[in-house]
Amino acid sequence: MEKEIVLSGIRPTGFLHLGNYFGALRNYVRMQDAFNCYFFVADWHSLTTHPDTTELRNSVLRVIAENIACGLDPDKVALYIQSDVPEIAELYLYLNMLAYKGELEKTVTFKEKLRRQPDNANAGLLTYPVLQAADILIHRAVKVPVGKDQEQHLEMARNFAERFNYRYGNVLPLPHAFNYGDNLVKIMSLDGSGKMSKSENQLATLYLADDGDSIRKKIMKAKTDQGPSEPNGVKPDYIENLFTLMSLVSAPGTVQKFEDDFNASSAGNCIIRYGDMKKQLAEDMAAFIQPIREKAADIQNNKLLLDRIIRQGADKARASASETLKLVRSAIGIKYM
Ligand code: TYM
Repeated sequence: MEKEIVLSGIRPTGFLHLGNYFGALRNYVRMQDAFNCYFFVADWHSLTTHPDTTELRNSVLRVIAENIACGLDPDKVALYIQSDVPEIAELYLYLNMLAYKGELEKTVTFKEKLRRQPDNANAGLLTYPVLQAADILIHRAVKVPVGKDQEQHLEMARNFAERFNYRYGNVLPLPHAFNYGDNLVKIMSLDGSGKMSKSENQLATLYLADDGDSIRKKIMKAKTDQGPSEPNGVKPDYIENLFTLMSLVSAPGTVQKFEDDFNASSAGNCIIRYGDMKKQLAEDMAAFIQPIREKAADIQNNKLLLDRIIRQGADKARASASETLKLVRSAIGIKYM
């Protein structure tokens, strides 16, 4: 049986963090044997918000290195850079004719980015979800491992594919956001203010390149409170986030102990010690990140290896992309001889 096709991408807009790992990369690694996988660095997308390209090359190479350090095998998957695959740009052009100004203006990420960069309301920002749909549809991928923040983009990709199929014939399968658990993941910033992100609030973000000391400092400063006011209470989201992080890197028995302490606590009888919990989390997190950080640094220094991986990735990605583009062109009727 043919393996299902999987695709996902990461923008090279800064250092990768735990949100990227647990929302995306961890699933990439788990999927690489059972699926036919395409993973890429979305350098074109980064130009919509980061027009200064001084750091671009470093960031692109680091994202490739970090993907491998997290466990991706570039001989099993196609690991490539978006701009190495011009076929994506052509599909983006066709899909732009099927995307409407009104729906693009309503996209949550567009509105957010506009708020952050009111002086750079460029058309690339508006059509960001169209380019993302082209990334996915160019390989006819059906599963897209992403974090919760990408859900709306996936819904839009399905809409564009459906419109294409309706107008020109059934060429593009409908892609869906994917996570091994029931829900897509959202890792919050350690200060409790929204999602962890590459370029904001760096002191409350845990990066895969952080050393043990910075990890400890950041976790010890994470937001907590005076403890639950009643037994088996509901956790505020910043406390829930610490438990989520702990369940990702600590032994199950450790998480259970703090869960039990939380549930047994009430006002005037606080059993859970957030200070102890953070100390334990910091140690387990430092131990988890260290090998990734070291491996990524080694790979990043090995330019020959990176060069080979990037060329090989581009070749695999272009082979698949040009097949799809042939079908797309012929479905549209762009085939004159
Ligand atoms: P990007 O670069 O912002 O993030 C890369 C991946 O990490 C996930 N992620 C998170 N997951 C959980 N908690 C968080 N705090 C968190 N922060 C980031 C994202 O959901 C994503 O899976 N538009 C995409 C890049 C892209 C793409 C694509 C993705 C371009 N084309 C095609 C999939 C398919 C983005 O900005 O991801």
